[in-house]
Amino acid sequence: MLTRSSFAAVSALTAGAFLLGLTGCKKEDAAADSAAEIVIGEVAAMTGGTATFGTSSHAGTQMAIDELNEGGGLLGKKLKLLLEDDQSKQGEAGTVAKKLISRSKIVALLGEVASGKSLEMGPICQKAGIPMISPASTNPKVTEVGDFVFRVCFIDPFQGTVMGKFAMSRGWKKVAVLTDTKQDYSVGLAQYFKEYFAKNGGTIVSEQSYSSGDKDFKAQLTAIKPTAPDAIFASGYYNETGLIATQARELGITGPLLGGDGWDSPSLVQVAGKAIEGSFFSNHFSNEDTSPRIQAWVKKFQEKNGGKTPDAMAALGYDSAMILADAIKRAGTTEGKALRDAIAKTTDFDGITGKITLDEKRNANKSAVVLTIKDGKFSFVETLKP
Ligand code: PHE
Repeated sequence: MLTRSSFAAVSALTAGAFLLGLTGCKKEDAAADSAAEIVIGEVAAMTGGTATFGTSSHAGTQMAIDELNEGGGLLGKKLKLLLEDDQSKQGEAGTVAKKLISRSKIVALLGEVASGKSLEMGPICQKAGIPMISPASTNPKVTEVGDFVFRVCFIDPFQGTVMGKFAMSRGWKKVAVLTDTKQDYSVGLAQYFKEYFAKNGGTIVSEQSYSSGDKDFKAQLTAIKPTAPDAIFASGYYNETGLIATQARELGITGPLLGGDGWDSPSLVQVAGKAIEGSFFSNHFSNEDTSPRIQAWVKKFQEKNGGKTPDAMAALGYDSAMILADAIKRAGTTEGKALRDAIAKTTDFDGITGKITLDEKRNANKSAVVLTIKDGKFSFVETLKP
């Protein structure tokens, strides 16, 4: 078994050799460009605690790759999508990203959804000079890792503000906050919500925390109850949120729960049932969007996926692959640096999740939607602009 440090040393060597190949040696460039197909890596959580994130984003990504191949591929070559499952495990995302880069010679990496996993993969891609595009990681730190790391979604300072504004607009001024301290995403989102809320006349009446995988939230909810909040901001992912909603109702807490995009999963309603009705969360996309282009896309996705309705991750997975394809076309090559530069120039790309322009920090400035849970379905409430 390799120890942690020897593994890091080996991968640093591999990455170094790879970088040399890209920057110093024209032969390698020619080799990459003459390969029979363009190999694109993807890391997603196909199993484990956030498995609906991976299955959805992958379905969207695969749909884009299939469409591109039906249209003849790119630069005269077919595309091949190589998927690795990180099992929703911290640590595993980095391991499989390294494997895709060193063994499979991918030209770019798509993923992850969860911010904590993207934060693991970013430095690996940066070091290897392989562009990475996260479809859905919203924590600001994800793209701060370096200039090879991009995302096609908005970030949490905006998402936290959106939910802060939304709570205020409903007259909910006393809010309790419940955070998953094991997830960078949840910690960041709670922080931005609190900052906006406090600055704009709201009061955080209670702050409680838990860890991913917890099943019992009674202690935290019992502490929250006597503070009589108008709402509870629960910034975690869907599994725990479903249990939190159920247990909150059991304890007689009746106010709405508020959250972010991490709620977006059919499992939320399966776990919480009626307990989550009337709660609200921010998201990237609503499949109720009435524009004909979006409805045609929703229909096509359903046809390909056994009638399944696409969620935000599916739409973002699709957009991440299409933005990469657009950049490959503009670059005319899959060489790492040239491809990075082309991705960075993405302007007004017509995505399924909105118009996408990547800013100097490699983030997308886009609108968010607020959804509510009504009759067991996610239902559109409003759009909020940056
Ligand atoms: N934004 C979440 C994160 O950064 C991931 C997510 C995106 C979940 C979209 C659901 C929908 O961890």
